[in-house]
Amino acid sequence: MLKLDYRNVKAAIVGTENGLEIETEFEAYKGTISKIISDLNKRKDKPGQWLQWMNLGYNEETVWLVKEYASLVKDRFENILVLGIGGSALGGIAMTEALLKPYWNLLPAEKRNNAPRIFFLDNIDPDQITGLLELLDLKKTLVNVITKSGSTAETMSQYMIVKSIMEQELGDNYRRNIVATTDKKTGILRQLADQEGYKTFVVPDDVGGRFSIFSAVGLLPLALVGIDIDEIVAGVKDMDLALKNTDIWENVAAQNALIHYLMDTTKGKNMSVMMPYSSRLKYVSDWFVQLWAESLGKEFNNNGEKVNCGPTPLKAVGATDQHSQIQLYNEGPNDKVINFIRVEEFDTTVEIPKIFEYTGIGYLGGRTINDLLNAEADATKVALVDFERPNVTISLPRVNGYFVAQLLYMLEVQTAIAGELYNINTFNQPGVEQAKDYTYALMGRAGYEDSADALKEKMAMV
Ligand code: PA5
Repeated sequence: MLKLDYRNVKAAIVGTENGLEIETEFEAYKGTISKIISDLNKRKDKPGQWLQWMNLGYNEETVWLVKEYASLVKDRFENILVLGIGGSALGGIAMTEALLKPYWNLLPAEKRNNAPRIFFLDNIDPDQITGLLELLDLKKTLVNVITKSGSTAETMSQYMIVKSIMEQELGDNYRRNIVATTDKKTGILRQLADQEGYKTFVVPDDVGGRFSIFSAVGLLPLALVGIDIDEIVAGVKDMDLALKNTDIWENVAAQNALIHYLMDTTKGKNMSVMMPYSSRLKYVSDWFVQLWAESLGKEFNNNGEKVNCGPTPLKAVGATDQHSQIQLYNEGPNDKVINFIRVEEFDTTVEIPKIFEYTGIGYLGGRTINDLLNAEADATKVALVDFERPNVTISLPRVNGYFVAQLLYMLEVQTAIAGELYNINTFNQPGVEQAKDYTYALMGRAGYEDSADALKEKMAMV
């Protein structure tokens, strides 16, 4: 299992002003945490609680359906193109970047086991879309359009563009090149997919976008490029079983949730930095940033009181950002908790040749890049402690489907527990809706005409 080392948030290590009396705090919150964990597990099957993501490690039917479809289409396509945004894309990006060979899309087919290349279009930049469509042969591309609501403007406009080109290029056969992942009954994409006769997969009820990576939203793109999704689901399930433990001393998600909550609310550390020392885990930080930000950044708490809460998540990657952000983290405002992610064993070992022995870089020769990366992680950690900057380390034995799935699931549970500590609704995102409605008004969507004029007036002023 992955491990959490929280020694460096202790007052004894980073000083009383910046650190926690962790034993005392864990004991003080023992009852609260135990209640939160058992409540989440009790509530998870109730409709409307948005906790169905806690059951995704047990969803054998979806795993079977996804694998069956992936094996049916596996020899037909050279490319997979995923259309989606936010929670419909970030998990897939994080997992494929972590689990596929680096530079996957640039490898020749035989080095990819003849599995397709994969592209995620999670923005609506015209130049990017044009560039990607110039690159892809759509006849040899399977498009997976993913949207739970079935109406997100970014995703649906991408879909409209790609579908029209495909229709021109493939005639009626274009339908075989589109697979939709959306709600089982509602939404415009569901309606269109049924009319058009696309193959579809379901985003389960009560699973929000940012918690959907272990549903067909994430599993399908992964299976389509040959990633072993059984291994992923096994990681989720084992982590779920471990995190059912209501004892804070035994539950890593609860520990990290409480640490971040107390750091924010009692020590002024209102930012949390996710910093894997692994390029393959770089996009786990992007995924975490969305999860933490959209889930915990809320105006009101569950009692209707205005709280404007939520620690700001930041992303960094080691060792690269030692040369970019660490100066600020060491000497700037002491308002952050750094989350290191450390990989114990890399898939490969790269030796640094013993050359230039009599120069200032001679000490590197004969060592490995692996040693250097982990030495840099250790050195950065100790330096942070010298500056009294609290930090935790999550250790992954390896970067594989089993452990990366554990990591992501642990962070989901950590977020849900943190939301309970803040006493907010972790699963909604009212602050996103406002701008969405304004966009609809500006783009002339029916039903938004009234707000369009008022909006134009406001726009002239801001
Ligand atoms: O986490 C969320 O709920 C959001 O980030 C959504 O995933 C995002 O807005 C896309 O929504 P949809 O899947 O409905 O297109």
